[in-house]
Amino acid sequence: MPATLKHLLGIKGLSEESIQQIFETADNFKQLLNSPVKKTPSLRDFTVANLFFENSTRTRVSFELAEKRLGADIVNFSSSTSSVKKGETLIDTVNNILSMKVDMLVMRHPAPGACMFLARHVNAQIVNAGDGTHEHPTQALLDAYSIREKLGSVYGKKVVIVGDVLHSRVALSNIFCLQKLGADVMVCGPKTLIPRHIAELGVKVEHNLVNALQWCDVANMLRIQLERQDIKYFPSLREYSMQFGLNQSILNQLDKEIVIMHPGPINRGVEISSEVADGNNSIILQQVENGVAVRMAVLYLLAQHQLEQSKS
Ligand code: CP
Repeated sequence: MPATLKHLLGIKGLSEESIQQIFETADNFKQLLNSPVKKTPSLRDFTVANLFFENSTRTRVSFELAEKRLGADIVNFSSSTSSVKKGETLIDTVNNILSMKVDMLVMRHPAPGACMFLARHVNAQIVNAGDGTHEHPTQALLDAYSIREKLGSVYGKKVVIVGDVLHSRVALSNIFCLQKLGADVMVCGPKTLIPRHIAELGVKVEHNLVNALQWCDVANMLRIQLERQDIKYFPSLREYSMQFGLNQSILNQLDKEIVIMHPGPINRGVEISSEVADGNNSIILQQVENGVAVRMAVLYLLAQHQLEQSKS
């Protein structure tokens, strides 16, 4: 058995063994979530603070539900109503929260590397819930878990990540996670939204959507992240959609069925049509469902680490 988790800061530092352990633990929690009980007291003696310095719907609700299903006490922090607005530093804010006997932190922050920075400066276990354009490890874990569930295995599968790869933490974490699990990964999008040196990560690069879809077993469609774009990367959303938006008529041209994914939030009619997002090939809502079991697994393994440390 691999060691329990100390932090979850990114997928880059996670072994394949640890990812498999998270998946196997998530399998048990998924079974529990589908039973009438839905809860276990595994984290009954733990307090988790959810620190969200950036907007979120799925990740925030999913972590909160995962913590509640595990019986933890939780506290939710939102930067918009906190003393951060009065100039308090991140470290001071977090140390004040920790002094109230909080055991773990789940943090989303707009600055890339914010979770790693915090892990070096405070004494708590940290889960990265998305840090700027850097990583979103639990999203990548739930995405890979959903592929495993749908196709039986991630190993040997061809996965294309389509769209705004340049500004996407989901893309980077997915690349690391899928490659560790033995998938073949391609990125597809306009040249302006594909990082120049991304091929050095061992991914294929394609600028034609139909070619990419012909190649893949799974297409993960990314949102255009206008909030992170300081310049124009394409003439208009309409033009982006005409070249890289996925609709039913493109799917009908393929000589095979492919699995369609999206991390959310969706811009319907931009990167994906409603017909495809809600269609039979889409596993978008299964991804969201699996997020709770995967996050329960991560929190459970972090708690196991803390219990082992307290015994030694
Ligand atoms: N996928 C994802 O991170 O969604 P939220 O921004 O709503 O949490």
